[in-house]
Amino acid sequence: NLPKHVTIKEVGPRDGLQNEKEEIKTEDKIEWINQLSRTGLSYIEITSFVHPKWIPQLKDAIDVAKSIKREKGLTYAALVPNMKGLEGALEADVDEVSIFMSASESHNKKNINKSIDETYPILKEVVDEAKGSNKTVRGYLSTVFGCPYDGAVDEQQVIDICKRLFDMGIDELSLGDTIGVANPIQVRNFLSLIENEFPKDQIALHFHDTRGMALANTLVSLEKGYYMFDGSVGGLGGCPYAKGASGNVATDDLVYMLHDMGIETGIKLDHLLKAGDFIQQKINNPLPSKQMNIFQKT
Ligand code: HMG
Ligand code: MG
Repeated sequence: NLPKHVTIKEVGPRDGLQNEKEEIKTEDKIEWINQLSRTGLSYIEITSFVHPKWIPQLKDAIDVAKSIKREKGLTYAALVPNMKGLEGALEADVDEVSIFMSASESHNKKNINKSIDETYPILKEVVDEAKGSNKTVRGYLSTVFGCPYDGAVDEQQVIDICKRLFDMGIDELSLGDTIGVANPIQVRNFLSLIENEFPKDQIALHFHDTRGMALANTLVSLEKGYYMFDGSVGGLGGCPYAKGASGNVATDDLVYMLHDMGIETGIKLDHLLKAGDFIQQKINNPLPSKQMNIFQKT
């Protein structure tokens, strides 16, 4: 009883690029996002309004967000950590803002320089202000399935933080396997724990593919009835504040698997691969996805 349609949220321009050492030109990011906009995707996270010292690659957030060509019906989102970030996102008039925090203390501290308790009021203010400006708000919770510093993360603690985030008024929550340590049994058990706590249409899964588990984890999530997944074209990326983290599940591998199983995404795989090839040439490194590898050889 798998879902018939899956919504894929492309986070490559943010999660993918934030970890790339080589500086990508602003005009290339804009061209790439414009290409992605024509693949049938319904959602793209285009950049983040964080401190440029922390993420130098995305210091051109405002230029990128203001210069891309926005397609009708497509949601353009940006990551924001605090009010200063929200200012930029509102100035650029993105459709949706994404707030973020971690389920483990050490990752939260390393990523946004605050304890978990210090983070709530900061995010609450962002949510209120964003809602007041008629934006939808997505929340991200990182290290849901394990932390690179603290190890295992208590499931009840994760659920409590999810509740706090929904209580703030977020529209959707994306659960992050930040360092790709989750296995399918763990994911299934966790989803069984939360399925009666939060509506399925408000939960997305954000799997990193560090250990090659992302598609398997996606499949068990589908079997549990979840149908929103984040991906990054070609598997570009990682998390700069999580040691050893690699990219998100590749959007193209995800699309291939779903289409082959008869599940619709609305995305044209060939267009997606061309967009993947564009950014692959700019980063001057082969992207790790299987579909990009096949595309290269044909
Ligand atoms: P901080 O140093 O604690 O900030 O950094 P602060 O509030 O103390 O302010 C210090 C200075 O930074 C001030 O400037 C602020 O104006 C400025 P000064 O007065 O000294 O001149 N500042 C800013 N400048 C630009 N943009 C801003 C901003 N905020 C303050 N938004 C901060 C705190 C959150 C800013 C910093 O830690 C940061 O930028 N962190 C970003 C880390 C990040 O982007 N990580 C990757 C994204 S999360 C992720 O990848 C996980 C996810 O994919 C899900 C998953 O996989 O699990 C989402
Ligand atoms: Mg991520």
